[in-house]
Amino acid sequence: MAITSKQLRNNWLNFYKEKGHVDIGAVSLIGDGSTGVMFNVAGMQPLMPYLLGKQHPAGTRLCNVQGCVRTVDIESVGDASHFTFFEMMGNWSLGDYFKGEKTAWTYELLTKVFGLDPAKICSTVFEGNESAPRDEETAALLRGLGISDDRIFFLPKTDNWWELEGTVGTPCGPDNEWFYPVKEGASPKTFPDGYVEIGNDVYMQYRKTQTGYEPLENKNVDTGFGLDRMLLFLNGLTDGYKTDLFLPVIEMLQQLSGANYDEDEKARKAMRIIADHTRTTVMLIGDQNGILPSNTGAGYILRRLMRRAIRYARSIGVSAETAMCESASLFINQVYDEAYPFLKEKEGYILDEIKKEVARFETMLAQGMKEFEKCVNGIVRKNEFMAKNNPAYVPETVIGGKQAFRLYDTYGFPLELTEELAQEQGYTVDKVGFDAAFKEHQEKSKAQAGAAKGGLESHSDMAVKYHTATHLLNAALKTVLSPDVNQKGSNINDERMRFDFNFPRPMTAEEIKAVEALVNEKIEENIPVVMKEMSLDEARAQKFVGVFDNKYGDVVKTYSIGEFSKEMCGGPHVERTGVLGKFRIAKEQSSSAGVRRIKAVLE
Ligand code: ALA
Repeated sequence: MAITSKQLRNNWLNFYKEKGHVDIGAVSLIGDGSTGVMFNVAGMQPLMPYLLGKQHPAGTRLCNVQGCVRTVDIESVGDASHFTFFEMMGNWSLGDYFKGEKTAWTYELLTKVFGLDPAKICSTVFEGNESAPRDEETAALLRGLGISDDRIFFLPKTDNWWELEGTVGTPCGPDNEWFYPVKEGASPKTFPDGYVEIGNDVYMQYRKTQTGYEPLENKNVDTGFGLDRMLLFLNGLTDGYKTDLFLPVIEMLQQLSGANYDEDEKARKAMRIIADHTRTTVMLIGDQNGILPSNTGAGYILRRLMRRAIRYARSIGVSAETAMCESASLFINQVYDEAYPFLKEKEGYILDEIKKEVARFETMLAQGMKEFEKCVNGIVRKNEFMAKNNPAYVPETVIGGKQAFRLYDTYGFPLELTEELAQEQGYTVDKVGFDAAFKEHQEKSKAQAGAAKGGLESHSDMAVKYHTATHLLNAALKTVLSPDVNQKGSNINDERMRFDFNFPRPMTAEEIKAVEALVNEKIEENIPVVMKEMSLDEARAQKFVGVFDNKYGDVVKTYSIGEFSKEMCGGPHVERTGVLGKFRIAKEQSSSAGVRRIKAVLE
């Protein structure tokens, strides 16, 4: 059954809308910081408060198609089935319907709408453990739909339990997964060999605690089916880059390089990497809370992706700028024009940022490659020398951590790039040594920053006021612009404050006004500034934000200004906000790539 990505998206949404669901649209790909996850990795992530019991404004039946970014295996991208961006088709019951309706609807969708053979579908359910019972209920419902016993499998927590790894306080539960055979000879006897998982229905009934699980008041359903994967197998394909999500880009890259995707393995890998990484680049820069490549956090992941794409473009002899910009334009105007129409408005901006990063990287790459060759030549020479004098000598194959750090720090080589280059020549990189060099460098710059700060901080009454105003400004920016805004630097003297924060574009006049107004509102409310000491873990759990996270000792000072601002900080601060006077933003300007700077005064 041939189906396009646009049809698939619409089919999904229409099916659930007909069953009373509201399409809530997609949220930003950039994590909101609440779970500590950098990107949105699942459709349920933005819905967590509602799965935990909060009322959703759109009701109790929701659906959408949500973009997700998973970057844990960037290095695997290049094969037929790994992607760093994908779309999850989802639907939810927030304490509304449960297993009966859900099993029936998934089955109806798969067999009637998508035309899968009912006799081939397999399904897995939770076998039970000390936290939750064996899911006989779902198994009975599946049998009732006509799925024979030999096609229903009870599996342990590792397979049939869904939760966001590494989090606490988040909703979770047993899940029911749906499978379909894709290989000749696949049968329930060979299961799961020869089958693909098409998607899953999670019965979110529990909340994850520090020590285990506690039941939720609501019984929820959280469904997720991967659009990219579903498209692949509904079209009888096995190469993820042959669906209409990528085909136009692959064809363009073939033309550009003159290489044949099907026949040339090296070019195929390069084209896949360029296509996948450029798609994610477009989505992350064009996102409503868009980010730019940088050396920290999410920006660093983006930089890694972009630089990997650039390098692979060069490896097949095409201009990275042309390959990436043309790919980006195809994604924006052809592939995702219906699903993400806002990308079109940002096309110029996205292409500009791609060009800038290509230019930055290419300059560094030329110099860095020379440096890298020097490292390798050094090892080769040493090995030759040693081997001459000692026949039993085992040749060195490791590039030193300090050298890798120098490539990172001076030439902008992500560690992974150095590792890939090393691997191509039969070397590895001393990662432990790299981390150590990184730490040492951090300590040094902190000590320097501390010295500079000490010199400026007079702790005069005025400086103390500016210090508190800095907390108010930080919180106001998070409220007005995005929860992902974080302090990147701050500098205070008796006359003014300066505050640097990550944000991809200039603030509008309205935004500046709104931030000023909010800070002034909090000043007028004359809120007490409360200091409490607590452990770093406790502070984190209570959502205190801190800029220099890892500098703190075990016990940290926290300052709250009502519920509005909660920061870890050494102080000192004023006792109540009322004494600050009137806050005015004097200037908003660029500080460095992706970082804005505000100069503000108290009058
Ligand atoms: N939360 C489930 C998933 O991500 C639906 O697969």
